[in-house]
Amino acid sequence: MYPYTLDLIYLVTSVMFIIGIKMLSTPAAATRGNYLSAIAMLVTVGVTLVTSQIVDWVTIWAGVAVGTAIGIVASRMVQMTAMPQMVALYNGFGGLASALVALSEYDRQHAALTPYLTSVILLSLIVGNVTFTGSVVAYAKLQELMPGRPMLFRGQHWINLILLLVTLGGGAYMTAYDPLVWNWFFALGAIALVLGVLVVIPIGGADMPVVIALLNSYSGIAVSFTGFVLNNNVLIIAGSLVGASGIFLTNAMCVAMNRSVWNVLFGGFGQTAPAGAGAAAGPGGDIGAVKAYTIEDAVNVFESAQSVIFVPGYGMAAAQAQHAVRDLADHLQQAGLNVRYAIHPVAGRMPGHMNVLLAEANVPYDLLCDMEQINDDFKNTDVAVVVGANDVVNPAANDDPGSPIYGMPILNVEQTRTVMVLKRSMNPGFAGIENALFLRDNTMMLFGDAKATLTKLAEALKHR
Ligand code: TAP
Repeated sequence: MYPYTLDLIYLVTSVMFIIGIKMLSTPAAATRGNYLSAIAMLVTVGVTLVTSQIVDWVTIWAGVAVGTAIGIVASRMVQMTAMPQMVALYNGFGGLASALVALSEYDRQHAALTPYLTSVILLSLIVGNVTFTGSVVAYAKLQELMPGRPMLFRGQHWINLILLLVTLGGGAYMTAYDPLVWNWFFALGAIALVLGVLVVIPIGGADMPVVIALLNSYSGIAVSFTGFVLNNNVLIIAGSLVGASGIFLTNAMCVAMNRSVWNVLFGGFGQTAPAGAGAAAGPGGDIGAVKAYTIEDAVNVFESAQSVIFVPGYGMAAAQAQHAVRDLADHLQQAGLNVRYAIHPVAGRMPGHMNVLLAEANVPYDLLCDMEQINDDFKNTDVAVVVGANDVVNPAANDDPGSPIYGMPILNVEQTRTVMVLKRSMNPGFAGIENALFLRDNTMMLFGDAKATLTKLAEALKHR
């Protein structure tokens, strides 16, 4: 290959990564953005393997075949609700790959270690290992292989701080005085593995999406360090992109929840709601001051309405009710109603959760409205159908300074003429707090599984 040709190809694929990530910011372009980035990745890996002559063609094709097979199986088999844990695993493997490259380069370049090379190898090892075990714990919590609740013990944060300082201090010492000692290398790697576990276990399972975004950022940073180790520009650029976008995503989620990243990491938030926090009700039954309405009542309201906003939340994902939502929306549109969807940035349990589910049900993108776009329209809307959403519509965020979610931006559904809430009981949502919306005069509670209720509503409308 001509000199600089490789760098030129890397530059082109890096630009493709940047454009691909940019395209992920709108649902309409996201699929094409994914393809563009995937092609860029394939070209980058292919060109690197071919030009560097690292392994023979048989090994290259075997790797492509195995990787493609795992990717296809994962994309077909893994449920949409299990996406966060899959991303956690991928992050973990990214971190492990960086640590393994660090190991092999420490061995290969042992005789030629400079302080610079030692430091970037150690950073690649440490960040890679923390990412690996942290991601495995995040995966295990989400997959319910270990308890999802925060696991707290006395002095935990101090121990973590000491381990962090020992790792960084040990790395600096090794770089300066003892770069050739394998025992140092293994000890630092081992402490980083332990640190990854200890940093993630005090965080509640429901906060894992934020942690995964942060670990995603770490995996990018680890890859960037690996780029410095291998003197490979595309790894440095791609790693920095992942590192920066992971941090932005973490921050966006924290802002949408009105919490600091410190509160997520050290707050022990997201413990499971106390058992019996609310009583279950069957359709037609009352719970305390709350009146349960019937399908018939709801259909009557739809018949005199002109505009409807669907507000999906975690319960829609849990009930797998996205197709039933689309079905009901179709009936309402055919009856001449104006239908839109309001998407809260942290509705559900992962970034873009509602967008992905509604896209799967072929809901047109132009009907999906971000919170800022639609929040002023609730007051001029006849009906808001809250499908398994709770915290993201809780008025306490606006009017109760004592509430843990006070200050969190919410969807102003309570301003709608009639609010229909589809959920199974009075149980709280993720934040574990009561919701006064359910007691308001303009709220109709339709108790039951969201999918079943939506299907009954659509059926009833069809027969009117
Ligand atoms: P939540 O406040 O968690 O409420 C979900 C509601 O869905 C529950 O109250 C539950 O009530 C109902 N539900 C569960 N299964 C159902 C079913 N089969 N049919 C009908 N309803 C069902 O959800 P949200 O409003 O989407 O808020 C998301 C929360 O997660 C926020 O507090 C947010 O801060 C947090 N969070 C989000 C993210 C991201 S990135 N999205 C990350 C971390 C944390 P019943 O049990 O009574 O049915």
